[in-house]
Amino acid sequence: MKSTFFSVAALAAISSAAPTKRADGPSDADILNYALTLEHLEDTFYREALAKYTVDDFMSAGFDNETYSKIQTIASDEKTHVSFLTGALKAAGATPVAECTYDFGYKDVASFLATASILEGVGVSAYLGAAADIMSKTYLTAAGSILTVEARHSSYVRNTIKQEPFAQPFDNPLSINEVYTLAAQFITSCPSSNPALPVKAFPVLTASSSDMMIMTGSKVMLTTKGYKIDGQVYGAFITVTGPMFVNATAVDGGFEVEVPKGIAGQSYVVLTSCNTAATDDTIVAGPAVVEISGTASSS
Ligand SMILES: *[C@@H]1O[C@H](CO)[C@@H](O)[C@H](O)[C@H]1NC(C)=O
Ligand SMILES: *[C@@H]1O[C@H](CO)[C@@H](O)[C@H](O)[C@H]1NC(C)=O
Repeated sequence: MKSTFFSVAALAAISSAAPTKRADGPSDADILNYALTLEHLEDTFYREALAKYTVDDFMSAGFDNETYSKIQTIASDEKTHVSFLTGALKAAGATPVAECTYDFGYKDVASFLATASILEGVGVSAYLGAAADIMSKTYLTAAGSILTVEARHSSYVRNTIKQEPFAQPFDNPLSINEVYTLAAQFITSCPSSNPALPVKAFPVLTASSSDMMIMTGSKVMLTTKGYKIDGQVYGAFITVTGPMFVNATAVDGGFEVEVPKGIAGQSYVVLTSCNTAATDDTIVAGPAVVEISGTASSS
């Protein structure tokens, strides 16, 4: 029971750290509840899939019993993250969010693993993006210790489904609202007793391409279903050093952007109202997740 030992030891340290807040940002308790929102989503995702698919289902889909076993370990990690964050919030006197109901949309083992890859990648980007807002060093270390594990889950799942396990030398940070925009697409409803978090979802943006493998120079079609965007917009690919802006050409039913050089792996593109900043004030839709083949060094 190594996870229990870790939880107890870490909780003892964390419970002595009172949640604090930057003048203009979310409080640490808000950030922990935001992290818990994502961990509930992942925990439910794996728990439901493992209740649905057997090791034989994995083998029929072309994966082996080792893959099944690793997915069980990932499921266990996510469950432990949920209990860890729930405990940390309670210890700090805050109300932890409870599990919601979700619709993940997978229909077989292969699409489950494809969704797992996206969720793990978003988890990495979420913890990375939130790091700068965490005030308490204790929470920052705790969040960092979850981030590194999510990154290992991500590279394992990516390798298993023949995506580059680490496509770039840097991961992409996402803001709280960018992550929530992606997470909300899986959430059907949440208990009304859950504390409200300072998050908002941007309009949903969906990416598609006629290229089988999307790479540098590929044209990607971005659509906002049921939502019309007027006026000039730009595409912004999110990177750790800031957005890479590209022209977004209005085409029938959406906007077309070209994948710029130097982006690979699980990538995110938003539509923005200007080509100098991609912030809560300028994002008009997205992010959309775009899987870009190859590695940043080969693109
Ligand atoms: C997978 O199956 C092989 C062959 O039956 C077995 O030797 C191995 O221990 C199994 N691994 C796991 C993780 O169950
Ligand atoms: C983007 O659009 C502007 C204005 O239409 C044009 O001058 C520029 O060449 C375009 N850039 C690219 C990379 O296509």
